[in-house]
Amino acid sequence: MSISDSVAPQAPTKERVIANYLPASVTPVADSTDTLFAPSNIALCKYWGKRDAVLNLPVNSSLSISLAHLGSKTRISVSDEDQVWLNGVRLAAGDKFARKVIAFIDLFRRGADHRVRVETENNIPTAAGLASSASGFAALMLAVDRFYGLSLEPQMLSAFARMGSGSASRSLYEGFVEWQMGIREDGMDSFALPLDTRWPQLRIGLVKVSTGEKAVDSRSGMNRTVETSHLYQSWPLQAAADLERLHQAIAEQDFTRLGETSEQNALSMHATMIASWPPLLYWQPDSVAAMQTIWQARAEGVDVYFTMDAGPNLKLLFTADAEAEVKQRFPGLEVIRPFG
Ligand code: PMV
Repeated sequence: MSISDSVAPQAPTKERVIANYLPASVTPVADSTDTLFAPSNIALCKYWGKRDAVLNLPVNSSLSISLAHLGSKTRISVSDEDQVWLNGVRLAAGDKFARKVIAFIDLFRRGADHRVRVETENNIPTAAGLASSASGFAALMLAVDRFYGLSLEPQMLSAFARMGSGSASRSLYEGFVEWQMGIREDGMDSFALPLDTRWPQLRIGLVKVSTGEKAVDSRSGMNRTVETSHLYQSWPLQAAADLERLHQAIAEQDFTRLGETSEQNALSMHATMIASWPPLLYWQPDSVAAMQTIWQARAEGVDVYFTMDAGPNLKLLFTADAEAEVKQRFPGLEVIRPFG
């Protein structure tokens, strides 16, 4: 066989990886009208940087907490044309979100002869400025699974949801969730698993700074950081150490350790962004003011910490006994009890 006859191994794509685990073709389950829910989640140890941008494979493992009843619910039904509805409004076919949703469906539909109507509702308070892509893609994955009667294992649902949005891999479960980075080229060992520890006293507060669309989305921000920030080199090691500390803190219900680790992890991620070029700073003056309020509260003995994602809003971490003190400093704070 000459070199020209040999077939180069094909790089894994979403289509190829998913096709390995599906029947040759799919058909919608008759009268499927179920609505599927997935919670939103907030990372305490962040996912920041991809080792594979096509499959959304991360450079580091991450750990999150799900936001109980706050999230997305999605229903798929057969229709005469593809259509996507968000919070009761039909989106234009060219809408960015609508195109992403249909592209995700296409990974499973693979040319089969039917059209779909996808209806999604987010009950995440818009005022909270929380991203909904994690819960959105997780709920969509669950709805796809139901619509085609696939009955996929949770780990596979998580790995496939990850292809929609990395953090969606963690939104398949309640409570604390770890997304294991994995090492396989096809990413099928890169999925999330729930931790079996509950922490009923834990509270999350949502501090709204701005709810407008951000100029740089997390995908672009991540890529820019990996490509241009010299500080990014230190990130994988820091993330691995923080993950370890968080596991310990959760196992021992050591809130101070949990808070310190989460806040430092978030600020370290933001430091890598700030050192990118062009610089990437998601903070606004009110974000910094909120940080200072938190540091002042700590100086006065209130055990409250924060974390932040690729946006200007803060998510506060505290326990039930500090709730009154925290609310006093952040009037109108939306408080979530992740364990009900
Ligand atoms: O899942 P994506 O592509 O929206 O990226 C999420 C990135 C962060 O929110 C900043 C961190 C995380 O782990 O959720």
